[in-house]
Amino acid sequence: MPKPLFAGNWKLHKTVSEALELAGAIKSELDGLSEADVLICPPFTALKPVADLLAGSSILLGAQDFFWEDSGAYTGEVSAPLLKDVGCSHVIIGHSERREYFKETDEMINLKLKAALAAGLTPILCVGESLEKREHHVTKEFLSKQLTEDLKGVDREAAEGMVIAYEPIWAIGTGKTATPEIAGETQAFIRTLLADRFDRDLAEGMRIIYGGSAKPDNARALLAHPDVNGFLVGGASLKADSFVEIVRFSLL
Ligand code: PGA
Repeated sequence: MPKPLFAGNWKLHKTVSEALELAGAIKSELDGLSEADVLICPPFTALKPVADLLAGSSILLGAQDFFWEDSGAYTGEVSAPLLKDVGCSHVIIGHSERREYFKETDEMINLKLKAALAAGLTPILCVGESLEKREHHVTKEFLSKQLTEDLKGVDREAAEGMVIAYEPIWAIGTGKTATPEIAGETQAFIRTLLADRFDRDLAEGMRIIYGGSAKPDNARALLAHPDVNGFLVGGASLKADSFVEIVRFSLL
């Protein structure tokens, strides 16, 4: 089973000084942890100072998004080489907030995925259904289509480096967590899709993490499912105590 990954998605929160305070607290509690990998994803403006603070520690740094071209006349964008330059090893791609508010399509997400893999950044590809899709019992069809489109043209060797985050939209920021049964069953299904798309070995080794109101009091039960290999934590990653508790309680 893959080693768990605990990732904090700070979204649009934290000034540089707030980010340094939070990253410092996480580092002092979780640096050197051997049972899991710990990753934090601050906003762009805090990446470099946080990278300097984390230097030499085991805490990993990621960005929340990027643009697929390396450089050029793309006002406002940030590329994979620029993220690597400031010390990022990971990047979140296709978060439902990007898909919804910024109109990112599967085609755009596919371009980002391929660019991240080509640059040697580990992508965390987010997939997940809406409440409407779940209630209409079309979750599996939807996830299958989303993954097929997002993974178009990605070869096996490149795919080995990636992480999938299952984030049911109805659970994000709502306080409604998927039960361990729902998360586990859906993530097992995602694993079968990966086995079909690539092969069983790759599917079994790939980290599939859960996101959507993950908290200290539900993390342990979720992680107990063999198909839940960690978390992408939003709200509860904004305070060191709750993020650290998610990690500690899960690994008890
Ligand atoms: P949440 O966010 O933990 O606040 O639900 C998770 C995410 O959007 O990645």
